[in-house]
Amino acid sequence: MGKDTFYITTPIYYPSDKLHIGHTYCTVATDTLARYHRLKGEDVMFLTGTDEHGQKIEQKAEAAGITPKEFVDRIVEGPRGVRDLWKLMNISNDRFIRTTDDYHVSAVQKIFRKMYDKGDIYKGTYKGKYCTPCESFWTESQLKDGCCPDCGRPVVDAEEEAYFFRLSKYADRIRDLLVNTDFLQPRSRVNEMVKNFIDPGLEDLCVSRTSFTWGIPVDFDRKHVVYVWLDALTNYITALGYENDRYDEYHKYWPGINIVGKEIVRFHSIIWPAMLMSLGEPLPKHVFGHGWLLLDGGKMSKSKGNVVDPYLLAERYSADALRYFLLRDFPFGSDGNFSNELLINRINMDLANDLGNLLSRTTAMADKYFGGNLPIEQDEGPEDAALLEKARGLRDRYEADMEAYAFQNALADVFEVIDNANKYIDATAPWVLAKSEDSKPRLARVLYNLAETLRICTVLLQPFMPTTCEKIFAQLNVEADGKTWDSAAAFGTLPVNATLHKGENIFPRIDAAKELAELEALEAAQKAAAQAANAPAEEKEEKPAESGAASAELIGEHEEEITFDDFCKVELRVAEVRACER
Ligand code: ME8
Ligand code: MG
Repeated sequence: MGKDTFYITTPIYYPSDKLHIGHTYCTVATDTLARYHRLKGEDVMFLTGTDEHGQKIEQKAEAAGITPKEFVDRIVEGPRGVRDLWKLMNISNDRFIRTTDDYHVSAVQKIFRKMYDKGDIYKGTYKGKYCTPCESFWTESQLKDGCCPDCGRPVVDAEEEAYFFRLSKYADRIRDLLVNTDFLQPRSRVNEMVKNFIDPGLEDLCVSRTSFTWGIPVDFDRKHVVYVWLDALTNYITALGYENDRYDEYHKYWPGINIVGKEIVRFHSIIWPAMLMSLGEPLPKHVFGHGWLLLDGGKMSKSKGNVVDPYLLAERYSADALRYFLLRDFPFGSDGNFSNELLINRINMDLANDLGNLLSRTTAMADKYFGGNLPIEQDEGPEDAALLEKARGLRDRYEADMEAYAFQNALADVFEVIDNANKYIDATAPWVLAKSEDSKPRLARVLYNLAETLRICTVLLQPFMPTTCEKIFAQLNVEADGKTWDSAAAFGTLPVNATLHKGENIFPRIDAAKELAELEALEAAQKAAAQAANAPAEEKEEKPAESGAASAELIGEHEEEITFDDFCKVELRVAEVRACER
């Protein structure tokens, strides 16, 4: 018997601008799931990539004076681009698809033709409203106050000859899928889909455009390009080899799990399964719609410009700290407010204090009292049973949470045990035991139990903080057999005479006030630079009303340096802006 297979994907992101912390959040969560399933011994395929066609990218490239392909190449492959970001964040994707890849392009053409031959795609006239930033068509009735119901921006009239997908034909089967199965998760998203899209009646979907050219041509009617969402959704199967010879793993890995943000659940839970029904292919096992990271209560987005740069944070605090924070602070299915303060507090509280201290106390005491080598002669004590029981049961609790996409709870479970271990130190008072030769066997057992508890926690933290866990394993001298899923349920995997050595401090404490001020200055400077660089090309609507805009203007004006004497005349003051009004 081969290993169980597990296929998981992120959305393929638009390379219309640099990716931000929201994209990083989704990719880190998906990476953690992929690593978790590898830890459990499964044969994992983890796919991410970029969604490179469509009018918005065509327009951005034009504004930048380069071809769309040059434009996306820069953002995907260029310095600090998408691939660099995933490398920095230690993302373990097995494959990276770009929708401009030849094999994908020809597969999409075959898929379009297959659906056309079946009669599920037909030619008609499109009349309606189009939201360019979202690449979405809307009917009049779907608009909110005349604007795009997703992003709230104005829509434009669109009318043209177009191909349509008979989405209406699949309405009943889609309703059944959503209501009567666990296809769409979390369950709370189901109502929203049924109420907003299925109940009003599913209309056929316009799946080709003639008003621009940056897309995949319909091969039997070349003035049409395939609608970007039809092109994009198929990536999950073309990347495995569906309708192409580049790969041959479609039957091995499909169906898989699609992790997506809540704003694109509509595409993934209605259009995508209908397309697969039309093709006669299996549906995804699940679509999971995660929540948004908000900034000051509003969604962060590339087109709004109110984004947080993951590069800056990962380079400053490490990818692992950022990964941990993202999955510990924000329940995966809900929205959450991002702030630097939360990040720094989380690093200090959990990583520096709880985890970092447990490791350094344990290894430092082993060094100090036993030269790093625990003696074989050890005595159990009354404090042991409770800790061992907690540690032994941890893997099951963690597994239940991970299976429910509840990263936050899985991490809380692990850190509860870490907290128990720190309290066990206080309760057993090793520094007192060290005072007499008679209690040395008890001291040795205490340190062993601490090391072993820490090892179990570290096994389970691997999917979240892979680099840190290797550092901890090194200090505890853990061999390969002590890093496995099985070993996380087996207290006593480390040899009794374990060798422990204090190494570097894995998470130094951060001076929060100082760090917050520096981050704020860095982010303002970064924003100003970005706005100065983008100024002519940016859309004019929805400029963020933040200090960055003002700084950008200042930078433009202040090209000359002033003399030292003039500088001395300047009175510098620091102020906090409490409110703004037009
Ligand atoms: O929608 N908070 O690409 P996209 C949390 N190309 N997650 C966020 C986020 C935020 N503020 N902002 C973005 C597209 N995301 C299409 C997808 S798939 C066949 C095509 C994450 O660049 C979240 O996962 O707009 C969201 O769904 C995704 O990035 C959208 O990225
Ligand atoms: Mg988006």
